[in-house]
Amino acid sequence: MRPDFALLDRLRNRFLDAPSVGGDYWETPEMLALYNSTFGERIGWKWDAVLEELAARRWAPPPGTVLVDWGCGSGIAGRRVLRAFGAEQFTRLIVHDRSALARRFAAERATAVFPGLVVEQAPDWGEIVAAEPFTLVISHVLNELPPAESAALIALVRRAATVIWVEPGTGEVSRTLVTIREELRSTFAVVAPCTHQGACGLLTPDNQRHWCHHFARPPIEAFTEAFWSEFALRLGIDLRSLPYSFLVLERPPAGTALAAPTPEGWSRILGEPREFKGYFKVLSCEAVGVTERMLQKRDSKALFKTMRRVPPPPLFAWQLRDEKIVSGEHWPVPGREPTGNTEEPPQTDAAADIPDAT
Ligand SMILES: C[S@@+](CC[C@H](N)C(=O)[O-])C[C@H]1O[C@@H](n2cnc3c(N)ncnc32)[C@H](O)[C@@H]1O
Repeated sequence: MRPDFALLDRLRNRFLDAPSVGGDYWETPEMLALYNSTFGERIGWKWDAVLEELAARRWAPPPGTVLVDWGCGSGIAGRRVLRAFGAEQFTRLIVHDRSALARRFAAERATAVFPGLVVEQAPDWGEIVAAEPFTLVISHVLNELPPAESAALIALVRRAATVIWVEPGTGEVSRTLVTIREELRSTFAVVAPCTHQGACGLLTPDNQRHWCHHFARPPIEAFTEAFWSEFALRLGIDLRSLPYSFLVLERPPAGTALAAPTPEGWSRILGEPREFKGYFKVLSCEAVGVTERMLQKRDSKALFKTMRRVPPPPLFAWQLRDEKIVSGEHWPVPGREPTGNTEEPPQTDAAADIPDAT
């Protein structure tokens, strides 16, 4: 069946034009199904990138939590999380949305995909805050929330055991997420994207023009299936570019010091490495701040090659000389390493205390 492109266009304009006014926009289950297999699926690709990174970092939410998908829409985010960590990791799924249609759609889909899972619909977020610890999933809601609703969401976040939050990679939304990180980093350990618990290095005056975003790689079908090429053409969406921002937080066990779980010495590339003739420039987020660094091909051909990967591995341990990168290693991402490479984390002092997921 051909997708209703006029409806998709209307939905897209609704997201872009006046996202925080006008109330509920889900009109029919068919509309949610159409969103789910198009815009929702594209959001799912961003979730895949985030969940792949969390797996590479050997991080998982604590077992036995309730999984809450807040502003669930068609429920794509919750289902991606269930698929990645295993439904058995969670005691049940609660889907919340201001739209009753969305709640029902997300609940029905989750039940169909994960038949043994207990799924509940929560019309009111107050109902979510039960005695049980919960993992909170939030996806693509920030630019729809007026200030009072954002504040209510942050109040809910403060009660979560773990938060996995994915948003578009625009400057505006990403900066809001950084503000939220700053508010919460005295309560939660910052798991990702940051490698450290300190103040965000993008908040310094000389980094005003940058923002924390990353790029996911769409699956092969985005380029091979006729449906996706028509989708891209009709809606004017470049499927090759999949920018996202995200934040993963974890409440430390009582009595434990607050610290990012990433071992010291690791940096993260923000945006994309930019290649010039014979050198790369990268915006490197490090515990000491966010700094633009250069890598010359002649200094490390191997690292230069790694930098060309699309997307590049998220974490690097640099060796610096005169503030320039001269060599280094990357944190391996299982499934993305060239054949022959080990998929074990590198044996550096820093990597020796990579936390075990168990
Ligand atoms: C762009 S959709 C994203 C849906 C889904 N999270 C995803 O990533 O595909 C935003 C969702 O947030 C919901 N929403 C907006 N404001 C809300 C609010 N104040 N409370 C609960 N849900 C809200 C909308 O109904 C919609 O389902």
